[in-house]
Amino acid sequence: MFIVLVAYFLLLVADATVVLDVNTTVGESTVLPCFLKTPTLTDLKNLRFYWQDEGKCVLYSFNEGKEMPEHVNELYRDRITAFQQDMIRGNISVKVKNITLKDNQKVFHVFAAVFDSEGIRRYILEHRKICQITLHVAVPYKNVSLTVNKETMTAVCTTQRGFPEPLVKWRLSDKSQHLVDLRDVHTTAVQDPKDQLYSFCSTIDIHGGRSVTCLIHNPTLNVTLIATHVLNKGEAERSLPGWAFGLVVAAAVLKA
Ligand SMILES: *[C@@H]1O[C@H](CO)[C@@H](O)[C@H](O)[C@H]1NC(C)=O
Ligand SMILES: *[C@@H]1O[C@H](CO)[C@@H](O)[C@H](O)[C@H]1NC(C)=O
Ligand SMILES: *[C@@H]1O[C@H](CO)[C@@H](O)[C@H](O)[C@H]1NC(C)=O
Ligand SMILES: *[C@@H]1O[C@H](CO)[C@@H](O)[C@H](O)[C@H]1NC(C)=O
Ligand SMILES: *[C@@H]1O[C@H](CO)[C@@H](O)[C@H](O)[C@H]1NC(C)=O
Repeated sequence: MFIVLVAYFLLLVADATVVLDVNTTVGESTVLPCFLKTPTLTDLKNLRFYWQDEGKCVLYSFNEGKEMPEHVNELYRDRITAFQQDMIRGNISVKVKNITLKDNQKVFHVFAAVFDSEGIRRYILEHRKICQITLHVAVPYKNVSLTVNKETMTAVCTTQRGFPEPLVKWRLSDKSQHLVDLRDVHTTAVQDPKDQLYSFCSTIDIHGGRSVTCLIHNPTLNVTLIATHVLNKGEAERSLPGWAFGLVVAAAVLKA
């Protein structure tokens, strides 16, 4: 019976860590949310918590009513604010400003303890991990360009200077809006070693297509840029097989 209880308790403790992803954009400020659920606080003097990254560098430290800036790592100096007016309600979120790609994929851990205010100091909430947040940082792709080469019947879709590497999808449809199977798709992404930003180029064969669409998806921002090119009649005829040209010529002759 005792063993069962202990196991159950451990499960509760493990469950109590909230695991979350936060996605944001370079240059912005973002709130990393974390809440103490269990005890009601009466005084910030009974609260102790700190935020650290996976390398144990401290972002923010709060001890018995006071901020402890001397514990904060250089990486996070002057970039973190907490909200003392919200802490009494268990809101121990912090705001990070000047987000850069160096913050991408960082995993932040929040540890907290709450003391009893009466008599001998004892924990109401033992020191433990409350939240774990993974930060995903993006740079939006601002512009997608789609060009069609009528000689080679290829389409080229490009976009520049975003992060992370985008996912590309093509749609090629014929006159009656039916999707045409994609052929000869060549995609290359080049990463700038200085700032980690990607530039991206994808090419497809558009023979047999009437309308071509390129979709560039930024997975972190969940944003898709779309460019469409409708081939005009002349281009469409170029893509017809040889016998069709014969028919066009015959029709022209009859008219004459
Ligand atoms: C927690 O505090 C932050 C900062 O004031 C605020 O942005 C956030 O909405 C608060 N969350 C809740 C649930 O109160
Ligand atoms: C944050 O960004 C602002 C505006 O770009 C800049 O003025 C400031 O120096 C930056 N602060 C830090 C701590 O990097
Ligand atoms: C988007 O790309 C096209 C072609 O490369 C360029 O002409 C245009 O100025 C760009 N627009 C912006 C907002 O960057
Ligand atoms: C946040 O970014 C990650 C990494 O790119 C992605 O897998 C996830 O789907 C994104 N979440 C949302 C809500 O867009
Ligand atoms: C991305 O956005 C679409 C709607 O635009 C939504 O249906 C989908 O659930 C979102 N994906 C994620 C991972 O949040």
